[in-house]
Amino acid sequence: MKTALVTGISGQDGSYLTELLLAKGYEVHGIIRRSSSFGTQRIDHLYSDPVAEPGRLTLHYGDLTDGCRLANLLSSIVPDEVYHLAAQSHVRVSFDEPVFTGDTTGLGTVRLLETIRMVDLPCRFYQASSSEMFGGTPPPQNEESPFRPQSPYAAAKTYAYWVTRNYREGYGMYAVNGILFNHESPRRGETFVTRKITRAAARIRAGEQKALYLGNLDAVRDWGYAPEYVEAMWLMMQQDEPEDYVVATGTSCTVRDFLGYAFGAVGLDWRDHVRFDERYLRPVEVNALIGDSRKAAEKLGWTARTHGEELARIMIEADVRELELHRGAGISPPLPRSGAHADSQIVRH
Ligand code: NAP
Ligand code: GDD
Repeated sequence: MKTALVTGISGQDGSYLTELLLAKGYEVHGIIRRSSSFGTQRIDHLYSDPVAEPGRLTLHYGDLTDGCRLANLLSSIVPDEVYHLAAQSHVRVSFDEPVFTGDTTGLGTVRLLETIRMVDLPCRFYQASSSEMFGGTPPPQNEESPFRPQSPYAAAKTYAYWVTRNYREGYGMYAVNGILFNHESPRRGETFVTRKITRAAARIRAGEQKALYLGNLDAVRDWGYAPEYVEAMWLMMQQDEPEDYVVATGTSCTVRDFLGYAFGAVGLDWRDHVRFDERYLRPVEVNALIGDSRKAAEKLGWTARTHGEELARIMIEADVRELELHRGAGISPPLPRSGAHADSQIVRH
């Protein structure tokens, strides 16, 4: 049985990857941050699942800023594979918290890699790199495209990308970068634009919300389905040679198109409900990301199966179901943390 350590296990990707690893028979260890409230909703079902035997999934407190703790955990768990997914992952927030983003999203990676090197752990290492690193480079973007990061988040990810390559080339470590384009799901954080849209459309349809406030509707993204993307992560870690891969659908749509898919799926016209709010604009925008993942198709046998419109349908159906469950149980529906105007409190500038 292999042992995996997953940072960012409580996040969207961490939850799907953990499901995949448990299904493959791994013993999984995950790092979570201590918080005054529980933040493990995305993985709670893995505890209550009778198929998951006790001891197969263990959570440990830790933080990317605490190098001693990371070193202790790596030395005691001695994982075969480390999937490093934790990060301050919101691009807009990185403009408000650039130093924290650099410390976690950038330096967090080298803290892990340096520990692995110092302790001489014979483990494989996955770095959650991002299409945001391409930033201002026009599409299509592949493994050879230059990086032109347009945010503190993208700059931190670019640092982490290069340091991962550096440890591979300098110390012979099996360390890979998965350069993943945007991938979404019903578990997507509520302040990322796709989930903000599907949640709001469900709420507006149910009369729980009046309007949805958004920024740039012209941005082009290559949106895929998260459960498929974690399969690519795992495949990258099973190869004979460590290499970096772009993971994308190769198709694209604008935020405006996605609005049409999501609101259309519940019989609404988004133009009646969406308002512009300049607070959701970014100091520098990434206009268009469209990935060319032919290398992943050829070497890993991986291709995306779900694209924009189908993705929007999956997400809105889940949000409608969640809302109906709450209403059916007589519980107030979840507050619009990212609906209406609420996440302006998070991104005020
Ligand atoms: P996510 O939902 O935002 O999850 C981020 C995870 O990192 C959460 O578990 C979070 O814990 C944890 N975390 C944040 N700061 C931490 C810290 N200081 N110490 C320890 N843990 C910390 O992100 P995701 O969408 O799953 O993405 C996973 C990774 O892939 C991220 O590195 C992201 O930047 C990268 N990526 C994502 C995409 C995408 O489209 N989703 C594309 C390319 C790359 P809490 O639950 O406590 O906040
Ligand atoms: N979040 C948000 N909120 N984005 C908005 C809004 C809004 O109200 N209005 C318009 N947008 C636009 C953003 O300006 C951006 O161009 C696009 O919608 C997508 O924004 P996000 O969903 O926040 O994702 P992202 O592309 O900036 O970053 C995500 O994908 C990266 C991979 O390319 C994150 O998951 C990153 O962690 C990831 O690396």
